[in-house]
Amino acid sequence: MSLRLGDTAPNFKATTTAGNIDFYEYLGTGWGVLFSHPADYTPVCTTELGKTALLQDEFAKRNVKVLAVSVDPLDKHLGWVKDINETQHVTVGFPIIADSDKTVANLYGMIHPNASETFTVRSLFVIGPDKKVKLTITYPASTGRNFIEVLRVIDSLQLTANFSVATPADWKEGEDVIVVPAVSTEDAIKKFPKGVKVVKPYLRYTPQPNK
Ligand code: BEZ
Repeated sequence: MSLRLGDTAPNFKATTTAGNIDFYEYLGTGWGVLFSHPADYTPVCTTELGKTALLQDEFAKRNVKVLAVSVDPLDKHLGWVKDINETQHVTVGFPIIADSDKTVANLYGMIHPNASETFTVRSLFVIGPDKKVKLTITYPASTGRNFIEVLRVIDSLQLTANFSVATPADWKEGEDVIVVPAVSTEDAIKKFPKGVKVVKPYLRYTPQPNK
């Protein structure tokens, strides 16, 4: 069965481009992004890992550790990283798991046999400090993911975790957020000193609390 939101993200030990790791130890007490790509030395994957490397500081600012995975062996990863650095003008600073025996791929349901029996699809998991799965996305091999969107979701998840607010459609950092239904308007007025705009009793906005 595939992992669903709220499930505990399984721990594992793995060989990576940054040495052997224990996933939980690698994550520590912060957030994590674990994402698979189909194969090394392929064009879309090269741009995806390049983009992630470009955004390393943005992930770090949010206390998020990034970890990539494919079923290619370590020597292949190490050679490919040089190509990513060269062609995408970055320095890949996050580990890539060499999952040749498919331990991680199977644990996280990253192989979708009707898409490919052999390769992982583009799965991505955001994992919270409580080691629970907060976001899953799955893209096909032919479509590169939008890592700015991944950061946007992490911002939303962290706002929910810290301030009990939700974010509306297409929300961007700095825009008003939504008071969750579990909080009464009376409590919201006390909780959010920047003000609460009541459009309907169930549709209430407040300025982003941490801005
Ligand atoms: C790519 O990364 O470009 C790719 C990988 C597997 C299948 C199709 C595209």
